[in-house]
Amino acid sequence: MPNSQNDPRPPRPKLIVTTELTDHVMERMRELFDAHINLTGTAMSRNGLESAIATADVLTPTITDRIDADLIAKAGPQLKLIANFGVGVDHIDLQAARANGIIVTNTPGVLTEDTADMTMALILSVPRRLGEGEKLIRQKEWSGWKPSGMLGHRVNGKRLGIIGMGRIGRAVAARAKGFGITTLYYNRHRLPESVEAELGATYAPDLDALLSSADIISINCPHTRETHGLIDARRIGLIKPDAYLINTARGEIIDEDALIKALETGAIGGAGLDVYTHEPDVDPRLLALSNVVLLPHMGSATYEGREAMGEKVIANIRAWVDGHRPPDQVLEGWV
Ligand code: DGY
Repeated sequence: MPNSQNDPRPPRPKLIVTTELTDHVMERMRELFDAHINLTGTAMSRNGLESAIATADVLTPTITDRIDADLIAKAGPQLKLIANFGVGVDHIDLQAARANGIIVTNTPGVLTEDTADMTMALILSVPRRLGEGEKLIRQKEWSGWKPSGMLGHRVNGKRLGIIGMGRIGRAVAARAKGFGITTLYYNRHRLPESVEAELGATYAPDLDALLSSADIISINCPHTRETHGLIDARRIGLIKPDAYLINTARGEIIDEDALIKALETGAIGGAGLDVYTHEPDVDPRLLALSNVVLLPHMGSATYEGREAMGEKVIANIRAWVDGHRPPDQVLEGWV
């Protein structure tokens, strides 16, 4: 529905962006909107967010800004859109936004391939001990090739269990197929048979059965009320002692403490983590473990991806300004 007098939307809305984005995206935002961008290099304080939400027509936070119900309660009546820079919206209280008549949008699709690449990198890195090998060289401890040196485990022929078969899960399965890995997947809905056949993926309606049979487990679902703590201590206990757990989704999906204990005792083979429960803090016990590869939440960190995410934010704001439903409006019940 186009913009009408009953629903006046400022043609040049006041947009507050909580952090620096790519130059091109910031330039476009300044051309199109009354854009105010936090260029301080540090995250906006709670006070900063409160004054932003009190005066902005549109707020663009990132996944590290906590947009909870208390903050949303302080929004001015003019705030109608939270155009998130990022696909995950677990940092935004969607119910509070909806109750206040605020639309929330995100940036799906454009970080699928990059995140799947990073997931695949971890799937290869942990069994083949890439982190340990690199450290050996840097610490000048490599004494030369030997038949028993740096032995890891073959990934070809292994069974991957993907939890969450949305865009990213499917992109991971497609990559795994190229490496001769077969996929089992757990998802809210079964995929069409044609998609399963193309990906060589088999539906596992029982998460516990997937966990106890997979050689490598990859978490690729969003963090929602339903998935919070999904991989709890009991479920970690089902994982085979030589299996690996990979997480490029959100730290809160796994009981990190239980995972660390399982890694410390050898109850599971290893882990590849790009996300943590208390980012940017990483539990020091993880740093002491050699059977883990640790990355700083960089799954989607490509120049191309960041540019495309910014363009999505702009497209969502423009659609809203024009009185249309933004293409990436986060649907009720998604979280
Ligand atoms: C997102 O957009 O939710 C990602 O976690 C950022 O990498």
